[in-house]
Amino acid sequence: MKYNRILLKLSGEALMGERQYGIDPQRLAEYAQEIKLIHDKGVQIAIVIGGGNIFRGLAGASNGMDRVQGDYMGMLATVINGMALQGALEDAGMQTRLQTALEIKAIAEPYIKRKAVRHLEKGRIVIFGAGTGNPYFTTDTAAVLRGVEVEADVILKGTRVDGIYTADPEKDLTATKYDTLTFEDVLKKGLNVMDTTAFTLSQENALPIIVFDMNKPGNLVKVCDGELVGTTVNV
Ligand code: GTP
Repeated sequence: MKYNRILLKLSGEALMGERQYGIDPQRLAEYAQEIKLIHDKGVQIAIVIGGGNIFRGLAGASNGMDRVQGDYMGMLATVINGMALQGALEDAGMQTRLQTALEIKAIAEPYIKRKAVRHLEKGRIVIFGAGTGNPYFTTDTAAVLRGVEVEADVILKGTRVDGIYTADPEKDLTATKYDTLTFEDVLKKGLNVMDTTAFTLSQENALPIIVFDMNKPGNLVKVCDGELVGTTVNV
């Protein structure tokens, strides 16, 4: 495999499958199988998952809710998703550890970088819950932060589009996909890869980002093997 240690970012919405809300067990099981393919090949896997299928702080704020309160609720949503994913991965035979940025010791380990790295070295999949533990930060930022901390080789952003396009492919039929971009290209062209905080953190630490379609079976293993799937952003 091209990558030895990855940080996989999954969106909370992806867990909904065809549902309007919550978690689709079928989708979870499919993701677990995709992850197992790379786990079996010895890739060390850390995962950050969003919470948008349950609660979004920003959406709460736009409905009049206090932003900070909403963001903490969103962090708890990522813990719920992390627990669901942990269950699915263990059902598929993998060892996992869930670490949370907010302490909820009855259900998860607190986030400790050195412990996380040790788990990864032992072949355990480490899921990071509760984002960065701070309001006003996205789970994309949490993904890059944890990726930098545990010295991942790459951030794999699994989404429902197959890469970065010249325009939104769901709205503009003439949009074309980029195979590779530099961080500077993304900024110059004003492309939307991650929010600015996450993107800048990745750029400053020269941590490449690959955006790919996680819903296409076999894609994750191809990405880890260095195949040109999705779009790679690098220095
Ligand atoms: P090694 O020391 O590398 O073998 O790691 P380990 O995770 O197996 O050892 P540890 O004794 O730290 O943990 C044993 C089990 O307890 C694992 O399933 C951990 O996820 C779990 N665990 C450890 N710390 C906590 C905690 O603070 N809260 C919760 N809920 N579980 C924990």
